[in-house]
Amino acid sequence: MKGLLLAGGHGTRLRPLTYTGNKHMLPIANKPMLLYGLEHLKNAGIEEVGVILGPIKEGVTEMLGDGGSFGVRITYLDQPEPKGLAHAALVAEEYMKGEPFVMYLGDNLLREGVGNFVRTFQAKDLDCLVGVCPVKDPTRFGIAEMNGEKLVRLVEKPEHPESNLALIGVYLFDETIFDAAKSIKPSGRNELEITDAIQHLLSSGKKVEALRVTSWWKDTGRPEDLLEANQLVLADMEESIEGYISERTQLTGCLKLGSGSKTIGEVTIRGPVVIGRNCSVGPNVYLGPYTSIGDDCTLKDVEVENTIVMGRSRIESRKRIVDSLIGSNSTILDASDHLPKGYKLIIGERSFAQI
Ligand code: TTP
Repeated sequence: MKGLLLAGGHGTRLRPLTYTGNKHMLPIANKPMLLYGLEHLKNAGIEEVGVILGPIKEGVTEMLGDGGSFGVRITYLDQPEPKGLAHAALVAEEYMKGEPFVMYLGDNLLREGVGNFVRTFQAKDLDCLVGVCPVKDPTRFGIAEMNGEKLVRLVEKPEHPESNLALIGVYLFDETIFDAAKSIKPSGRNELEITDAIQHLLSSGKKVEALRVTSWWKDTGRPEDLLEANQLVLADMEESIEGYISERTQLTGCLKLGSGSKTIGEVTIRGPVVIGRNCSVGPNVYLGPYTSIGDDCTLKDVEVENTIVMGRSRIESRKRIVDSLIGSNSTILDASDHLPKGYKLIIGERSFAQI
């Protein structure tokens, strides 16, 4: 069995963060989101992985290389335009050489991994297996309509959903998916929808089943999803202290502190919190639950909670920063006291601020 890891697309909902890089390089608990999917494939015994990349490749090929350091062999597959998930599968047709494969959307996080999916697909000798999970807002997802355990129909973002079971970003296919993907027409948003291709398999009598996830699943398409995914991963994190903690640091809850990082003077940390490598935190810093600080950051005189601060950022401000996404190489400072009161902002296109 091979893997197909999708890292194409535009990532429009995560702009401006995705203007300057591939969305799948954005960190969740200080790890690029794409690595979660890659590790799941590897842990399920998959060693050959095709990675779909669109025009924005920044960082992905440098990070993954030929896959050797992750225990897999990676082949990059070019999808010049994001024409849909079924189109991405078609791009991989030649690479798969008739072998069945797991297609994993690189912006999805799934606590349980994909081992159970692979075992079920193989044991039942299926043509297609989709993962499903109940959601509160089914109009945002591809939805599976079931009769008991039997998959009856798939609908993409239904206006009037008849089920709350969303398709998670994990699909297992044999080679029949390629003919199905060639038989469908682009949807209203001009994409070859994977739901239409799977519906085609169902309608032509192929063995298609759905498997419910047993733990959490998160699609990280929107900024609020990134913060929620960060919470879910940090909640499972194990403590590890490689850096230095000052005597006057008050620590409760779980902390992961990278090598070369230090707290200075009065610092309060209420975990779960992850701090990367070579960071300087303090004095007068409070880090609240569900905060991730990337490598090479400097924080002074500031309170930060439920926030992702990406690498090489500097925050020195007597403000409280909450529920925020701070891109790499950012600087947040207080205005000096002799300047007139007001906010000085240098904010890129499509940024969001609540002040
Ligand atoms: P989406 O979230 O549907 O699209 P997107 O990532 O471009 O984001 P947005 O809607 O904000 O513009 O994509 C789901 C996953 O599939 C994501 O990991 C990107 C990937 N993908 C491709 O690789 N090729 C494609 O043609 C499409 C549509 C998505």
